[in-house]
Amino acid sequence: MSDNRLRLGVNIDHVATVRNARGGAYPDPLRAAELAQQAGADGITAHLREDRRHISDADIDGLMEVLSVPLNFEMAATDEMQKIALRHKPHAVCIVPEKREERTTEGGLEVAREENKLAHFIAPLRDAGCRVSIFIAADQKQIEAAHRIGAEVIELHTGAYCDFHAEGKPDDAARELEGLREMSAYAHSLGLEVHAGHGLTYDTVQPVAAFPEVRELNIGHFLIGEAIFRGLTPAITEMRRLMDEARG
Ligand code: PXP
Repeated sequence: MSDNRLRLGVNIDHVATVRNARGGAYPDPLRAAELAQQAGADGITAHLREDRRHISDADIDGLMEVLSVPLNFEMAATDEMQKIALRHKPHAVCIVPEKREERTTEGGLEVAREENKLAHFIAPLRDAGCRVSIFIAADQKQIEAAHRIGAEVIELHTGAYCDFHAEGKPDDAARELEGLREMSAYAHSLGLEVHAGHGLTYDTVQPVAAFPEVRELNIGHFLIGEAIFRGLTPAITEMRRLMDEARG
């Protein structure tokens, strides 16, 4: 497989959101994860939130059992989540900020402000063999702090770029994109592996996919929504096609 290939992580949180709207067993996020991996996902991402609003503890148990591709376990930097991650030892742990009242992960983690605490928090996860990724804004200060605390991976938050695009503000979107491009190259120059995600769609994925330093995109909400119209497998196949096309 070429080193240039961009990995696609499919986030299945919102299959669980729909399931939980009725409190039953359907649709099953595990079935979505299995379909996604058959459709070419290189990994599955799931965020176990403190309030368990979508993914549940049982979903994580099930994913660890059935997946043949790596699980990227998204979590806040809390003792409870650290214990769960250490019990499962997923391939990757992505540390995200979490606020109870937010609808989705709104911003990147403030690594620079909590450097010592986060360094101690991720050390046991790294010792357990998990690849630790930190979800941050495209900000040099945060990237340098993520590097200093010993993270191997950063995931750059593409939400602002996608929001500006959706709002029809091309100049703002272009400015955000330029920041993402510069900071991808900067993080890579420090030896960090660079991932990106949040809010990506068929319309916004290609400029980010074209950054040579980005190794993985994590995409969820749009794909699960698109699956309503064309099915999960075709929705993922089209995203994969656009990513490969952008990569050249
Ligand atoms: N990456 C991270 C760290 C996230 O928190 C999320 C949202 O859960 C995503 C990627 C995927 O974002 P979206 O669901 O908007 O594609």
